[in-house]
Amino acid sequence: MVAHTVPWAQRPESRLLLVLSSERSGSTLMRYTLGRHSRLVSPSELFLMRFPEYDAWRTRKAVAMHSLLEFFELVGQPKSAEELDSMLATLETAEVYRRLFGFMPDGAILVDKTPAYGNELSTLERSRPLAPFYLRIIRHPLGVIDSHLRIKDREKRQRAEEGSLPRRLLAPLTGAIRRLNGSREALARRREAKWVQQHRNFRQFLETVAADQQLTIYFEDLVQQPGPTIAAVCRAMGLAEEPGLLDFSGARPEMNPHLGDPNFHTHTTIDSAPAFEWAARMSESWLMPQTLQLMKELRVRFLPASATLTARA
Ligand code: A3P
Repeated sequence: MVAHTVPWAQRPESRLLLVLSSERSGSTLMRYTLGRHSRLVSPSELFLMRFPEYDAWRTRKAVAMHSLLEFFELVGQPKSAEELDSMLATLETAEVYRRLFGFMPDGAILVDKTPAYGNELSTLERSRPLAPFYLRIIRHPLGVIDSHLRIKDREKRQRAEEGSLPRRLLAPLTGAIRRLNGSREALARRREAKWVQQHRNFRQFLETVAADQQLTIYFEDLVQQPGPTIAAVCRAMGLAEEPGLLDFSGARPEMNPHLGDPNFHTHTTIDSAPAFEWAARMSESWLMPQTLQLMKELRVRFLPASATLTARA
């Protein structure tokens, strides 16, 4: 690994910040906060790095065109999907990113936060030639699982409300049957396994990345001490701290649920409650031994004895 004397954000080749996290780990909050920095351009989830070339991304992740269009809006050069297709078709992914960098002002950095980047090591490997800064966010797995279950419950309620009358009448019964046969437990276990896999991938990859090109933060710190946490992120990258990054006044747009946190616009402040409120519903003793082991290795904070156990719906 090359030792650098210049901080990452002050090197001419530094144009990309990858936010690595499992889903439901405060990544939208991080993206939004960083997007207020004058040097950072921070669109919704791009998903680009998951695919070897533009054409595969375009056919297999059509919804993410929305994020690419948002990027061009943010850099003040709006384009249509047709224009982007003719400009980027057939390009390999690294070349697509280089084209995007060419549209950004000098010194600007693209923030690419897409939790699905943790699903395969090959995605992380693909980013290497672009020499990004890697910002890893780790959230307690029960926070992730609890958040995931609440979203799934809400989707189910919405489907039942929107469904036909017989389906609506049967919804409480079908819900009870599903709960009885363990499908909710199975859903939680699948989410746990995904957390483990993603964080194993991040860890394995980051072990091969220079220390001055990465930082790990914890969701619980982000929501309980947002000021010092964001200051630490700026410092690690070599970015000047700027006032107003944590300003939550004014309305925030509703996220496309496929491209970010669907509840993000409902927050009026940075709220510390999500850090440990899962503890009102879940216990660490439920977790698999390999999850507990990985938590220890990743220095995840276990439930503090003093946590207030109040639950949101
Ligand atoms: P909960 O569902 O537990 O509340 P992501 O963007 O990675 O999907 O993360 C979503 C999580 O970030 C949600 O967890 C959400 O509440 C939390 N979050 C988003 N904005 C927040 C804010 N302003 N304050 C505290 N937590 C926030």
